Amino acid sequence: MSDAAPRRPAGGPSASAPALLEVRDLQKRFPIRRGLFAGVSGWIRAVDGVSLSIRPGETLALVGESGSGKTTTGRCILRLLEPTAGSVRFDGVDLLALKPREMRRMRRKIQVVFQDPYGSLNPRMRIGTIVREPLDIHRIGASRAERDAMVARLLERVGLEPAMMRRYPHEFSGGQRQRIGVARALALHPRLIVADEPVSALDVSVQAQVINLFIDLQEEFGIAYLFIAHDLAVVERIADRVAVMYLGTIVEEAQAAEIFKNPLHPYTRALLQAIPIPDPSRSRERTVIRGDLPSPAAPPPGCRFHTRCPVAVEECRRIEPPLLEVAPGHWVACHLVPGPAGKRSAAAGGAAGRPPGRGGAGAR
Ligand SMILES: Nc1ncnc2c1ncn2[C@@H]1O[C@H](COP(=O)(O)OP(=O)(O)OP(=O)(O)O)[C@@H](O)[C@H]1O
Ligand code: SF4
Ligand SMILES: [Mg+2]
Repeated sequence: MSDAAPRRPAGGPSASAPALLEVRDLQKRFPIRRGLFAGVSGWIRAVDGVSLSIRPGETLALVGESGSGKTTTGRCILRLLEPTAGSVRFDGVDLLALKPREMRRMRRKIQVVFQDPYGSLNPRMRIGTIVREPLDIHRIGASRAERDAMVARLLERVGLEPAMMRRYPHEFSGGQRQRIGVARALALHPRLIVADEPVSALDVSVQAQVINLFIDLQEEFGIAYLFIAHDLAVVERIADRVAVMYLGTIVEEAQAAEIFKNPLHPYTRALLQAIPIPDPSRSRERTVIRGDLPSPAAPPPGCRFHTRCPVAVEECRRIEPPLLEVAPGHWVACHLVPGPAGKRSAAAGGAAGRPPGRGGAGAR
């Protein structure tokens, strides 16, 4: 954790605005088959009851280690995967009820930036064509020349030379390629961008530049982000709120400043303690998370984190802690964190105060 101040005061730019994206009790299960023609022998519960909301112009960071279900959550929101259950509303529209053609139209407003800036750009297409493609598909602009002029402006906006339109992806560095991915995502003036680990493949110095670009674009265009990362340090400057995901569920959610100052869930604490401190004269108490992430095909009973939790107690093995609002806007699923009435949540009797969706925090 750095000492950098959070970029926005608690509450964010539009704390009172209605949600732009509203996800309720989202589930995605993948079938397990032992052979090509074998029947289904089990289910991978990749996303197991996630609820979240994002307001216009807001950044919600979704953070958790590899395999926790972040990408699957993002892909279900974009309907690149069909959710098993739950609801996804965008700007008041039920996305899961849309027909494919209606969903394609909706994609103008919801764009995606992927982790791998090389894999997501067609190596045989020139940069100009890649960035122009969404404009061509949606027939924006009166002519090809007009669209090319738009592409030139987009490239300039993300810090690239318009003359680079004629080049191919392999001629660019990782950071430049990610800027191209951002230009392409911006082309249709989206209201929400799902950014799936957009800086994880980049060097640390380049990461900061690309994060700055995301922040500048948000301030200029009012775009909301679902910003996915496995590392809390990456999201510290960009996030308004942070949701921490573990094995398909959200275990803690709060304003970013609150998560960094007052993390309450043992898993969040361990993630924060894993962040190196730049000043060698300072040290931090470290909790190492034991073992690997359990299989999402057979999540542990009770609290899913109990097999690795350094402070687990007996009831953690038996009773699943509900996600409770323990302070205004701060939601935690842990038996050891006092609930809203000052009681331990399990002792308080389970679901009281639980927002819709066991594994996530919703619009508050
Ligand atoms: N198409 C699929 N078929 C079967 N299992 C899948 C599929 N996609 C994801 N999974 C499984 O679902 C779980 C969640 O995966 P997901 O990619 O969403 O995690 P993640 O948090 O994005 O991880 P990472 O940080 O590695 O990107 C993992 O156990 C993964 O193996
Ligand atoms: S409920 Fe128990 S196992 Fe789960 S995080 Fe809290 S203390 Fe650890
Ligand atoms: Mg992922």
